[in-house]
Amino acid sequence: MSNADVLSAVAELAGSAQRVAVLTGAGMSAESGISTFRDAQTGLWSTFEPADLASPDGWARDRNLVWGWYQWRAELVRRSQPNAGHLALTEWQARTHLDIATQNVDDLHERAGSTVMSHVHGSLFDPRCTECDVHSHPEPEPVDEYADRVTPPLCPYCGGDMRPGAVWFGESLPEDQWRAAVEAVESADLVVVVGTSGVVFPFAGLPAMARSAGASVVEINPVETEISDMADLRWRTTAANGLPALVAAL
Ligand code: OAD
Repeated sequence: MSNADVLSAVAELAGSAQRVAVLTGAGMSAESGISTFRDAQTGLWSTFEPADLASPDGWARDRNLVWGWYQWRAELVRRSQPNAGHLALTEWQARTHLDIATQNVDDLHERAGSTVMSHVHGSLFDPRCTECDVHSHPEPEPVDEYADRVTPPLCPYCGGDMRPGAVWFGESLPEDQWRAAVEAVESADLVVVVGTSGVVFPFAGLPAMARSAGASVVEINPVETEISDMADLRWRTTAANGLPALVAAL
């Protein structure tokens, strides 16, 4: 199928869907200049070690390094802008029931004006206390280089160390966010999966759940992924090209 044929097939599904769920991963924000995790050369995990920076053990070994890394990533996001894909989702959400569940810890969907139902991997902008678990929002500390070690601030309520608001490897997902994502795909007629490699579970299991619940699944990704087989339609395009074209065709 040519790209134009895929677009019209996707637009037909989208036009008749009463409820849409959009599942996003790092590729959603790639055209905003935010690195993905696993793309060769540019992906964060080709330069950084997940065990050092995104795990409870890494945190136990060197809190300042981990806090500094997340502060650096937060600063990169603050300097970035939502791309045309984020903006198209906002427009689509204004026209139809559309739930967004994202693995991304950035806030670019929200800054584009979308309502996000679920941040299943947490947020760069929602740190919490390691002792009392209260979320608070300390003043941002701009970090120019990832290797800047920054001492985590203390919790304003109990004086414990704050930790980043992102979920780490080996941790469970925030229960309410996960449940909302499952409900969104199980009640959708159409699930659009944008910019994820589909290797991190349980999020990567959502397209299969959608299929079992009777939804059509569309993948938007320039390359084949681990979850391509789950998709009824595979659209080899980028978020910032595909989503605006789709919304324009509705
Ligand atoms: P990955 O880096 O694993 O995958 C990014 C996907 O985006 C790849 O399939 C790319 O082909 C695709 N992609 C790249 N540019 C794109 C573009 N412009 N438009 C559309 N797609 C594009 O990122 P995720 O799948 O999001 O977890 O990674 C999942 C989780 O692994 C992350 O949430 C993070 C990471 O470890 C935690 O931090 C807990």
